[in-house]
Amino acid sequence: EGIPLFVNDAMIDFTVPEARAAFPSAIADIRSRMGGKIPLYIDGKDVFTEDVIPTTNPANYSEKLADICQAGVAEVDAALNAAERAFYIWRDVSPEDRANYLFKSAEVARRKAYELSAWQILEVGKQWDQAFHDVGEGIDFLEYYAREMLRLGRPRRMGRAPGEHNQLFYQPKGIAAVISPWNFPFAISIGMAAAAIVTGNPVVFKPSSISARVGYNLTEVFREAGLPAGVFNFCPGRSSVMGDYLIEHPKVSMICFTGSMEVGLRIQNKASVVQPGQMQCKRVIAEMGGKNAIIIDDDADLDEAVLHVLYSAFGFQGQKCSACSRVIVVEPIYERFVSRLIKAAGDIKIGPSENPANYMGPVADVTLQKNVNEYIKVAEQEGTILLKRTDIPAEGAYVPLTIVGDIQPDHRIAQEEIFGPVLAVLKAKTFDHALEIANGTRFALTGGVFSRSPEHLEKARREFRVGNLYLNRNNTGALVERQPFGGFKMSGVGSKTGGPDYLLQFMDPRCVTENT
Ligand code: ALA
Repeated sequence: EGIPLFVNDAMIDFTVPEARAAFPSAIADIRSRMGGKIPLYIDGKDVFTEDVIPTTNPANYSEKLADICQAGVAEVDAALNAAERAFYIWRDVSPEDRANYLFKSAEVARRKAYELSAWQILEVGKQWDQAFHDVGEGIDFLEYYAREMLRLGRPRRMGRAPGEHNQLFYQPKGIAAVISPWNFPFAISIGMAAAAIVTGNPVVFKPSSISARVGYNLTEVFREAGLPAGVFNFCPGRSSVMGDYLIEHPKVSMICFTGSMEVGLRIQNKASVVQPGQMQCKRVIAEMGGKNAIIIDDDADLDEAVLHVLYSAFGFQGQKCSACSRVIVVEPIYERFVSRLIKAAGDIKIGPSENPANYMGPVADVTLQKNVNEYIKVAEQEGTILLKRTDIPAEGAYVPLTIVGDIQPDHRIAQEEIFGPVLAVLKAKTFDHALEIANGTRFALTGGVFSRSPEHLEKARREFRVGNLYLNRNNTGALVERQPFGGFKMSGVGSKTGGPDYLLQFMDPRCVTENT
C-alpha cells in the first residue's frame, strides 16, 4: 500500500545539457580522488589486507583506479561467520522492512547515478549511455525485487476444505555466495545481491577482479542505505585462493553466479559435493553464455536491421552474454544486407569510451584482448574476413572489430562464445533453414528476427527456441519486468532475472496445516 507501481528508471537524455555535462564532471571528480586502497567490508567494518590487486583503465593501463584488497580463506571465514550471525536476525525481519532497505538503496544509487556510471566508464570501458543504463538496471532490480518480496511475503491460504487451515509461505535458504561478472558490473551484481538480501539471505559478494572497484560501489550503496552489519559482505579475492573455498564451504546455502559456461559448470560440479558439516543441498543459479543469432529475412527492413545488428554485435564491444555473434541471412538478400553492414561497421568510431564520439571502446582487460585476438585468428582460418578494423589505438585493450563471412554452422566461430566484437555471417537457403541454423548451438539465450512476414514472425515465436527473442529490434538491453532475462540449454540454470519467478529460487516453501 502506498507504494507506486514499478516503472523502469529513465533512459539518459543527451538533449538535456545538464545530463551531457554530468559525465565529464563525474569522471573528473572520481579521477581526483581515486588510486587508493579499497578494503573488504565484513560485518559492517572495513578490513584491509596486505595482498592487493590493482584495477586499471583498459583504455590506458597506466591509469590505476584502485588497489583492491584481496580476501584469503581467513577473511572468507570471517565473512561467513558474520553472515551466519546476521542470518538468525535477518531471516525474521519482516518482508516490508527488508524491502525498505532496497528502496533506500535505490534512492542512494539514483542520487549517485553519474558517479556510479563514471566508475564503469573508467574501469571497464563502457560508453556513457550504456554505463548509465547499467546503473539504471541496478536501480530497477532494487525497486522490482522489493515489490516482489512484498507480493511473495504474504502467506497464502491453500485449498477450501472445511475443518482445516493450510498456509503456504517462504523462508530464506541461508547464506548466499554472489559471484558476479565484469560486463554489467553494477546491475548484475546488485541484482543478485538484492534478490538474496530481500528474501532474507545474507550475502558474501565476490566481484570479478576486472571490475572490483565498481563492485565496491555495492558496499557504498548498501552502507549508505543503513543495511545492518553482516547482511552484505564485500569479499573480492583471487579465485585460485578463495574461489573454490567459498563455493565448497558447508555454510554456503546457495551460489548465485553470472559468467562463462566453463565457470558455471565448474561451480555446479563443486556445489554438488556434500562437505562435512553441510546441512542442506546447495542451490546454484548460474546465468551463463550465449551464441546469439539474428535472422535477416528476405523482406527485412534493412535500414533497421543494419542499425540494430551493429548495436547488438558491437555495443560495449560485443561483451554481453546477450550480444549477437551470428547473423544468419537468407540468400536473396545476402549481398545487399552484408554490403550495407560492412559499410556501416567500417564507419563507426573506435577509441576511449570516455569520449562519447566513440561507438566502440577497448575490451575490458588484457586477458580478454588476447582471447578475442585468438578467435580472430580462428575466424581467418575458417572463413573469409569481410571487415577487420585495424585502425585502433595502439595503447590499451583494443581489438579489431571483425566481420567474417563463409562461416558454416559447425565452425568454431559459429559455435563458441567469443565475448568480443567478432561477428560471424552465415548464409541460409530459406527462412526455415535460418531457424535450423539459429537453433543449432548448445546455447539458448537471446535471438532476433528481422522480417515483415507475419507467418515467419509467428513461426519464429514458436520455433526459435531461446530465452529472449526479439522481433524487429536489437537483442540486448532487456529491461527489468518488461523483458525478464535469461536462457536455458547451456546458457544457464535458474529462472529469469527481473521476472516474477526469480525470488522464489532464494527461498524454501513451507506449508503449515491446522486442524480447526
Ligand atoms: N540483461 C542484459 C541484456 O539483455 C545481459 O543485454
